[in-house]
Amino acid sequence: MTAKIIDGKAFAENLRISIAGHVARLKQEHEITPGLAVIIVGEDPASQVYVSNKTKQTAEVGMNSFKHELAADVAEADLLALVHRLNADPAVHGILVQMPVPKHIDANKVIEAIAPAKDVDCFTPANVGKVQIGLPGPVSCTPLGCLMLLRAELGSLEGRNAVIIGRSNLVGKPMMQLLLRDNCTVTVAHSRTQNLADVVRQADIVVAAVGRPQMVKGDWIKPGAVVIDVGINRVPAPHKGEGKTRLVGDVDTEAAAVHAAAITPVPGGVGPMTIACLLANTITTASLINGLVPPRDLTA
Ligand code: GUN
Repeated sequence: MTAKIIDGKAFAENLRISIAGHVARLKQEHEITPGLAVIIVGEDPASQVYVSNKTKQTAEVGMNSFKHELAADVAEADLLALVHRLNADPAVHGILVQMPVPKHIDANKVIEAIAPAKDVDCFTPANVGKVQIGLPGPVSCTPLGCLMLLRAELGSLEGRNAVIIGRSNLVGKPMMQLLLRDNCTVTVAHSRTQNLADVVRQADIVVAAVGRPQMVKGDWIKPGAVVIDVGINRVPAPHKGEGKTRLVGDVDTEAAAVHAAAITPVPGGVGPMTIACLLANTITTASLINGLVPPRDLTA
């Protein structure tokens, strides 16, 4: 078997087209222009790239984009004051504080300052709880993107054995909740799991989110499994003429593709879905804030 390569870039493009349609309807039928505020503290180059991609794509789908750039030595109190101002601003339906923040700022304090109704990252305890019990609201962006790709590939996920590798608050834990909600049998493996290869060999669905380059080997993959690779790892390029570094996932893609039915590549798989799902969450929060039912196709 040679796996189908799941084109996350194309999927995300189509999702953004759908989102732009929902934005146009909110404007025309309800006079609501969804607005997303992004706060970046300091000048970390990777964060700058992420944030500029987010603000660009926000504007492209017709939403209002508000970017707040704060100096690396900004006082925690000033950052919290900005979050509180945005909480109260009726033009803002989503607030994202780009992580990581500098060490002198307590990230948890910042997250808890964000009004849950505007928490498009789904980082606040209130929204984490809502995902767990299935109430409407924003859903963690990367897991939501993974779920959309899996549903598109498999249709119903009911009864499938899903193995998630990684137990982070950002990916592993919310992914577990979403797959449970779709009636998968879910195993969450992690760095202390014994016989990981054997655990993964049981999986109809593998979600790899450990942050270790190509840790998941080809012969761990059950024939016909669907493999979602969340990892983005920069490693030295093996061949001359390929630049100094290249990006690889947590899965040995080429070897896994021999066994899998479908697999996401790195780059171009899960990565592009994350920002599209951030925009989807902004539609969800803008809808809920205004007493409207969020579009089904944009949520879990
Ligand atoms: N830094 C890296 N990924 C993310 C994300 O999804 N949200 C926020 N707020 N910061 C990040």
